[in-house]
Amino acid sequence: MTLLVDTQDLLPSAKTMPRHKGHWLWGGTFDFQRNPAEFVLDAHEKYGDVFVTRVLTGQSFFIRDPAVVNAINVTHAKHIHKPKVVKQMWKPFLGEGLVPNDGESWKRQHKLIMPGFHKMRVDAYAPTMAAYTRDMIRGWKNGEQRDFRKEILALALRVVAKTLFDTDLAHDSETVHEAMQDIGEALIDHAQTPIPTPRWWPSERNRRMVRALDAMDGVIERLVAARRKDRKDRGDLMSHIVFATDEKGSMSDEQMRDELMTLIFAGHETTAHTLTWAWYLLATNRDKLMKAQHEIDETIGNRAIGVDDLRKLPYLEMCLKESLRRLPAVWIYAREAQEDLRLGDYFFPKGAILAVSPLATGRNPKYFDAPLEYRPERWTREFERQLPKGAYVPFAAGPRVCLGKQFAMMEMRIILGTLIQNVDINVLEGFEPDFVAELSLNPGARGMPMKVQFREGAPVRAGESSRPPARSNTHAA
Ligand code: HEM
Repeated sequence: MTLLVDTQDLLPSAKTMPRHKGHWLWGGTFDFQRNPAEFVLDAHEKYGDVFVTRVLTGQSFFIRDPAVVNAINVTHAKHIHKPKVVKQMWKPFLGEGLVPNDGESWKRQHKLIMPGFHKMRVDAYAPTMAAYTRDMIRGWKNGEQRDFRKEILALALRVVAKTLFDTDLAHDSETVHEAMQDIGEALIDHAQTPIPTPRWWPSERNRRMVRALDAMDGVIERLVAARRKDRKDRGDLMSHIVFATDEKGSMSDEQMRDELMTLIFAGHETTAHTLTWAWYLLATNRDKLMKAQHEIDETIGNRAIGVDDLRKLPYLEMCLKESLRRLPAVWIYAREAQEDLRLGDYFFPKGAILAVSPLATGRNPKYFDAPLEYRPERWTREFERQLPKGAYVPFAAGPRVCLGKQFAMMEMRIILGTLIQNVDINVLEGFEPDFVAELSLNPGARGMPMKVQFREGAPVRAGESSRPPARSNTHAA
């Protein structure tokens, strides 16, 4: 695909493509703000795979046409950056961390952090993931009610902390979750307010955010100080971040803080919320749950699930792929055109915000039959082969693809598989979750209440020992 700016008048553009007009002054701002996910889904239904609206003062293009999505993610990625408005939103929280970063600075950080996610290293994290899941289950009592969302957020945080930083954040999980919640709410608020209030504004929400950032900085300072005191390069990701140097020297304290914050944030909420939705979808589709149980019982029996078992559990993977289609944790992400661009059959002007919603792409009936049904069986090799690039992007794609994709897919299969092996997957009778489209799609404060019911002969309940490894296995690779 080449840049064909001179033929722009012939192409559907900001002037001619379907437009959501909204309010005469604010455009689509308030429609988006009121219920962002519903707005995006409804508008795609109404206007098609590409439409434009004004959000705040800029033109925002919402895109679920696979060819255009692929051009944004892959073929034209170098002309497309993270939006300034999103960088500004992230600034107090993730600073210049990998998620909001761009250009040379992103390249350098990416190179430094990538080795932590090589397949061999990630594979070595599997025993910790399985052991911590069993620890969580061992703490449950038959018949009691728990909030699955809360449980899984704590587990995912523990897994990231141990595997990537070789530390145990079990005691900090409440602090981290409260802080993340406050930060998330404040960021969304700032991003959606037509006339943004400055961060020093003495509102209760701003005060809560400052407190939350202090709490998170405190946790991170402790992590770094402990590793520096240790003075040992253990070859793990934390050591790369704390000790690595390149031609430009080592990472500044500020950059280190930003990357650790990014990895803690990106590495646990996303997996935890994906697993929360997978739990919900299996609980409400019992026939699919039975199939997944059968696969695990036949293949694994009572053993702990190891990394080598995963290829023998294709249905488990299909269940997760289908969850990521139906209710993706990262339900939307945005980019900004750095120059006038022709992408697919459309023209996008410099400065345009390009929003891609994995939630909307996953519901496109052109590519997914009966898109509202939870149908893991659709994910055959043939189906994936014929799916156009850009039609399914829960982890984005191209140079800015999720760095933790392999990590997350392995972690989620091990955790979900271990849960299916041991407990009944259920939600309280009559409970309907909320669908809250914040930084990640989540069920909100009401959570995902479930009743603990161990399966007959569940290996964890039978008292099988599964202590986590004494030292991290992060160094095995
Ligand atoms: C189901 C789980 C996950 C999903 C659905 C997910 C999804 C995504 C998506 C869509 C992006 C691109 C966002 C954007 O461009 O604005 C992204 C970026 C990223 N993710 Fe994930 N993610 C998951 C798990 C993880 C985990 C476990 C980690 C780390 C341990 C991680 C680390 C990152 C990082 C560092 C980036 C920024 C990459 C870059 O721009 O260079 N993610 N993720």
